[in-house]
Amino acid sequence: MTSRSVINGTYATIGVDKGEIYREALTFIVKLTLVADPILAVTVRKIISFFNQAGGTGKTTLAQNLGYQLAQRQHRVLLVDIDPQASLTAFMGLEPFELKQTIADSLLKDAPLPIHHNLHGVDLVPSNILLSAAEVQLHSVIAREWRLKQALSPVQGSYDFLLIDCPPTLGIFSILSLVASTHVLIPIQTHFKAFLGVELLLDSIRQVKERINPALAIAGVVPMMHESRTSQGKVILDGINEQLGVIATIFPAIPRAISFADASMARQPLAIYDPKHPSVQLLSSIAKNLESI
Ligand SMILES: Nc1ncnc2c1ncn2[C@@H]1O[C@H](COP(=O)(O)OP(=O)(O)O)[C@@H](O)[C@H]1O
Ligand SMILES: [Mg+2]
Repeated sequence: MTSRSVINGTYATIGVDKGEIYREALTFIVKLTLVADPILAVTVRKIISFFNQAGGTGKTTLAQNLGYQLAQRQHRVLLVDIDPQASLTAFMGLEPFELKQTIADSLLKDAPLPIHHNLHGVDLVPSNILLSAAEVQLHSVIAREWRLKQALSPVQGSYDFLLIDCPPTLGIFSILSLVASTHVLIPIQTHFKAFLGVELLLDSIRQVKERINPALAIAGVVPMMHESRTSQGKVILDGINEQLGVIATIFPAIPRAISFADASMARQPLAIYDPKHPSVQLLSSIAKNLESI
């Protein structure tokens, strides 16, 4: 065989048939892929929507606390608030009404994402009530479904996890979020109302997956505000495991505990507000699991 290098581009093609060139080129591509694969595997970032169109299921609480736990595990985390109610922005210690720049500017005006750095070790793109006006304005924006994905793309290389806190609706902001995400995490309250709307929620995920974002995967379901001592709590948790366990990982249930509400009011993750609280370990174990979704 004629000795030559495809890599440095010097083809000594005298005496070499075309088939051999193709074979060598193919071998080179395979080798390149093998070298790149482990690098890609490490750098594939996870963009997770915290999604449930019901209000008060713990989306914001989970996004805040899992973001904190992931940062504690040495991951670079960006929290993205795409809810006009701006609970995540407030839970992270910012005053939504005082903000000059929010995610709305990036969605509507192509402004760079207004990132607030190192709030308890995580970064945050805030929101405020002005985002609700963007809902109407977005209707006339071409390819609006891609707006969040486009807005995140210049910064996502700087993070391992991007956690997006959806509003309690099936509206445009939840859709933007699902389109921009690799995964969706579903918090469900273990309450008799738990299954109301689950069909609709799964249907929204299915539609986004089928029409726009085929790679979207369900990261799991987190039963929230669980009351293990009531029979209703047990029955609903069993129902969640039976009915949703076939389509998604069901994470350990987070018990109802006043410390969560107190921590929210203190604008701190639970692990800072009450480090010895038993749910801190649960949150940490869910965060660990998110590393391998
Ligand atoms: N496990 C829990 N136990 C008790 N209260 C909780 C728990 N998780 C969240 N909360 C409180 O419930 C309220 C609603 O939670 P939130 O995360 O804002 O829900 P969502 O974002 O889905 O509307 C908040 O006041 C929060 O502090
Ligand atoms: Mg919320």
